[in-house]
Amino acid sequence: MLEKLVIEGGQPLSGTVRISGAKNSALPILASTLLSDKTNVIHNVPKLQDVHTIVKLLQLLGAEIIWEERTLTINCAQIKSVEAPYDLVRKMRASVLLLGPLLARAQRARISLPGGCAIGARPINLHLQALNRMGCDIKLVEGYVEAYSRKLVGNRIRLTIPTVTGTMNVVMAASLAAGTTIIDNAAREPEVVDLVNSLNQRGAKIHGAGSSQITIEGVDRLGGMNYTIMPDRIECGTYLTAAMLTGGSIRTEDIRSDSLQAVLDKLEASGAVITYGTSDDGQRPWLEIVAPNRPKAVDIVTQPFPGFPTDMQAQFLALLTIAAGNSVVTENIFENRFMHVSELQRMGARLQIRDNAVLVEGVEGLSGAPMMATDLRASASLVLAALAAKGSSEIRRIYHLDRGYERMDEKLRALGARIQRVRQ
Ligand code: EPZ
Repeated sequence: MLEKLVIEGGQPLSGTVRISGAKNSALPILASTLLSDKTNVIHNVPKLQDVHTIVKLLQLLGAEIIWEERTLTINCAQIKSVEAPYDLVRKMRASVLLLGPLLARAQRARISLPGGCAIGARPINLHLQALNRMGCDIKLVEGYVEAYSRKLVGNRIRLTIPTVTGTMNVVMAASLAAGTTIIDNAAREPEVVDLVNSLNQRGAKIHGAGSSQITIEGVDRLGGMNYTIMPDRIECGTYLTAAMLTGGSIRTEDIRSDSLQAVLDKLEASGAVITYGTSDDGQRPWLEIVAPNRPKAVDIVTQPFPGFPTDMQAQFLALLTIAAGNSVVTENIFENRFMHVSELQRMGARLQIRDNAVLVEGVEGLSGAPMMATDLRASASLVLAALAAKGSSEIRRIYHLDRGYERMDEKLRALGARIQRVRQ
């Protein structure tokens, strides 16, 4: 059933929002359950379309899964298949994360090539080169990666790009390989650290996660985990930016500030007042933001972690369209991540694309318009712009949004937004 969002803009957000578990941590951690025949209990799993997709894929491969609220109990003792079919993989590129664990556990994998998506070609050549260096035969047959390895062997892997899922695939494959693997130029994202923490809890021997060099000593087998997914730093950044755009003041709970410091720095440079604290029992960190009357223009350059995350570029661009002054947003990670620009222009934003940058001329305000979502973060950008715009907006194809944001319309309504989800 196709649905759309109807938003009446101009309402400052206020209140407290609970941040869900991180999508880009849950997906690799769920894929990693293939590495062992023991039972895994995973908490704080976000209820997202992408999580449903990887659950379906794991069940196809033989996993027994019980999903209660936000806890998944998964046992992969029986691997019945090693094939991830195109019709599921095309819905979610992160299916490539099944490659490393299947090779390590079942010595073979047949994964449909994910194909491109709205934001770029999204090749997986670095994943395949790394696995090949670990003794894996790789063939590309009829749009599928067919991989076979009698036994993966540890090796020195230098990634020419610090690919996030590429790092995760190598870490998972190496955890059961013979010998030691060293990854140079590894991705440093917090979600890589979360995956590694969950692996080490199961008996893996991995050091250096969060730095550019990760060392993995292969072990014979892994146990089961009882693990809680980290909070979603991109979801948190999205709500903090929404508060900025609407001139509001909100508190986000369960988030560690060091996972999105680059975003917090830019919000403060744009005039936000951000305070930090923990709950009385000292367990739950919170962040509070108070927006200025009007945000100041700041330049954004996306980089691998700990730089400004590409997954926040579209949301922050929406903010800059109404900032006082001009700014430049430079996208260094993906080649086509400006799908939101034309829709923002229809709301009155003054934007010009120059190669991999957008030149922004801040305007006093935007006006609501009917819009079409294209990819996950572009959709979030349109929602944020609509919250700040004068008048009413409609956003269609919001299944893009549901892939990565849990109940976004409900969470925003609880913060005072005038937003309804209706049949298209
Ligand atoms: C992960 O994608 C995230 N997805 C993305 O989040 C995120 O935008 C991206 O990392 C960058 O932070 C998940 O974790 C599931 P990359 P990933 O490999 O791993 C090129 C979202 O919105 N590259 O780090 O696919 C690639 O084309 C999603 O939640 C190669 O050339 O990203 C890109 O230009 C979107 N060859 C750059 O590297 C390869 O083999 C970074 O890609 C791999 C990547």
